[in-house]
Amino acid sequence: MRRALASIDRSALAHNLRQVREFAPRQAVYAAVKADGYGHGAVTVAGALAGVDGFAVSSLEEALQLRWAGRVEPIVTLSQPLDATICAQAAAHDIRPVVFDRSHLDVLADYVGPTLSVWIKLDSGMHRLGFPAAEAAALDRQLAVLPHVERVGWLTHLGCADDIEHPLTEQQIANFEAATATLDGQCSIANSAGVLAWPASHADLVRPGIMLYGSSPMGHASAAEYGLRPAMHLSAPLISRRRVAAGEPIGYGATWCAPEDMDVGVVGIGYGDGYPRHAPSGTPVSIRGRRVPLIGRVSMDMLTVDLRTVPEAEIGERITLWGPDLPADEVAEAAGTIAYELFCRLTPRVAFETI
Ligand SMILES: Cc1ncc(COP(=O)(O)O)c(C=O)c1O
Repeated sequence: MRRALASIDRSALAHNLRQVREFAPRQAVYAAVKADGYGHGAVTVAGALAGVDGFAVSSLEEALQLRWAGRVEPIVTLSQPLDATICAQAAAHDIRPVVFDRSHLDVLADYVGPTLSVWIKLDSGMHRLGFPAAEAAALDRQLAVLPHVERVGWLTHLGCADDIEHPLTEQQIANFEAATATLDGQCSIANSAGVLAWPASHADLVRPGIMLYGSSPMGHASAAEYGLRPAMHLSAPLISRRRVAAGEPIGYGATWCAPEDMDVGVVGIGYGDGYPRHAPSGTPVSIRGRRVPLIGRVSMDMLTVDLRTVPEAEIGERITLWGPDLPADEVAEAAGTIAYELFCRLTPRVAFETI
């Protein structure tokens, strides 16, 4: 019997890419597949996204993983610091770094070799990475004189696009547009939230991540409402069950006590597999399509669930931690986190299959 198993649904990934194109029909789509495809397996995800225009990853290492797997599409590294070696390797494999810090300018000025294509990141108001938007024209002039460096385009990142009420997004779009209006090159602003909720952010190229995996970045609307399908089904077997008397505690710390005589199930997944230890009692799992609450503390190899509403559950049957009948967004909300983190933190102990 396999332990925790993540089944990656290629057709759901392809479907979600079609949804991106429904929302942004005229834009190029670069799929964000950093952090190993948000924990789904970057190479698997890339292979499932037929027709995607390019990929966005974090580092040169992540980009090379895709190149070694035979991907020929453009690849952008979003947060790879630049030095001479990185520039040479990136150029050799047509990997396009993002220039996001002043320290990169000296590196680029010294770069000699095959043409290195770069994106330039502007800080339009999130204040994490990038150059002040007002400096865009000066930067453009500075980079234009470098014979071995080609400017592909301009990008910025939205800090609050998941909140449709937040005023920062329109300000960021306006700042970015004002800064780039007279400059050559492609422009890119939108992450998934931008794709779904801010048409004015679509520009030339969108960079969706989480929506491709079937989760919603928006607090107010579910993935299903956007027509997205979960790409990951995480399951684990029921490994034991017992009858517990009223008043008896369950698990470490005795944080949960049976309110009545009841059946309790033990599921073979825990924080050693990446299931969040801080998920409180009440966090849902799904058994036979029914929501069942987790009870007591999550331990390293297992967690306990309340079987009162599914007394027929059998040892060995697979329990869904998240997937088609239980959105990861719902589990994340109960556990005080986001689906991004649930996906990324799965450990190598989880078996993966592609369906
Ligand atoms: C610069 C950049 N663009 C795009 C994305 C994709 O974001 P999302 O997964 O919210 O669509 C990210 C993710 O953090 C990012 O950092």
